Amino acid sequence: MQDPIPRLETRNLVRRYDGRLVVDDVSLSVLPGQVTCLLGPSGCGKSTTLRMIAGVEMQDAGEIWVDGKLVCDTVYRVPPERRHIGLMFQDFALFPHLRVGENVAFGLGGTADEKAARVGELLERVGLSGYDRNFPHELSGGEQQRVALARALAPRPSIMLMDEPFSGLDNRLRDGIRDQTLDILREQDTAVLLVTHEPEEAMRMADTIALMRDGRIVQQGAPYNIYNAPADRAAVSFFSDVNVVRGTVHGALAETPFGQFLAPGVPNGQAVEIVVRPQHVKLDFDRAGKGPVPTISDGTAVRGEVRRARFMGGESLVEFEMEFGGPRFKVTVPAVFLPKNGTPMWLTIRRDKCFIFPVH
Ligand SMILES: Nc1ncnc2c1ncn2[C@@H]1O[C@H](COP(=O)(O)OP(=O)(O)OP(=O)(O)O)[C@@H](O)[C@H]1O
Ligand SMILES: [Mg+2]
Repeated sequence: MQDPIPRLETRNLVRRYDGRLVVDDVSLSVLPGQVTCLLGPSGCGKSTTLRMIAGVEMQDAGEIWVDGKLVCDTVYRVPPERRHIGLMFQDFALFPHLRVGENVAFGLGGTADEKAARVGELLERVGLSGYDRNFPHELSGGEQQRVALARALAPRPSIMLMDEPFSGLDNRLRDGIRDQTLDILREQDTAVLLVTHEPEEAMRMADTIALMRDGRIVQQGAPYNIYNAPADRAAVSFFSDVNVVRGTVHGALAETPFGQFLAPGVPNGQAVEIVVRPQHVKLDFDRAGKGPVPTISDGTAVRGEVRRARFMGGESLVEFEMEFGGPRFKVTVPAVFLPKNGTPMWLTIRRDKCFIFPVH
């Protein structure tokens, strides 16, 4: 079977400001009815990428395609209003002199009755039935944001670009509106490119995550792939706290205080980092100065002393000073577990849950 044609595709987009590369060879695609999240830290070039796709900013190189047709390269350019792209940005601006209903109807064609029906339907979907005659300043920030959302959805755009659209909302409201928005967009088979710097939001919403750093896409894939097979150490630490142990490779094995780790294909003498998330470190109590016997799956145990323990709601976070020195080890336990400062314990790293990266 042939791969479906992406609704939206960027090919090798490049953008420089004053000679500085801000978007560097970005190639992305979004299928109809799917959500791609552009995830990355502040300043990495996410909004600039979105602005080029929207057509409000020109790329220095690269192409934008919609439904298999070229929309923009450095010579040819379809104007923004003819790209059928909906926009929902963080600093959404409602028209202050127009009522809520008029704001939502703004981009709509059709008869007055058709417009009224669509406005009513959308206001109901975002939980604002009965507000159509209010002015924006009579609404709370969250309500205004929902109006902006209704306005962006009204013309049934085939592509929706969203730049941190939910960041102004409080947590509980945000979860509801986020899910509802996605339901509406999926029903309409819209392709969604959503920008966020929050990994939880990306994991929750995305079919595909494109991890961006310093203008480049460093990894692209399903959320579980990015989480379970991260491209590098920074990709791991973007999603959670991490612990890092250094080692050196001899004969495809990395020697560390936690025992040997398989490092196939890594040359002799190469320094590596073993990266492990706090939930994948196993704890054992000290038994007269002894820890658990080494096993194939968990390696050698190392002694550490508790320096801090906090209950975080779903889990406890315990920090250890390790016998071999280095930064404190962070361990989470899915229970109330608050050992006293100075308590000795033995830590092991689950072999199947750690990542090994060469140090450059
Ligand atoms: N018009 C401009 N002129 C010069 N530099 C710019 C311009 N717009 C953005 N930049 C720079 O380009 C880089 C990328 O900006 P961009 O807004 O795309 O980042 P972002 O990933 O959206 O960040 P955030 O998560 O903070 O919104 C930043 O370093 C920013 O300072
Ligand atoms: Mg931005």
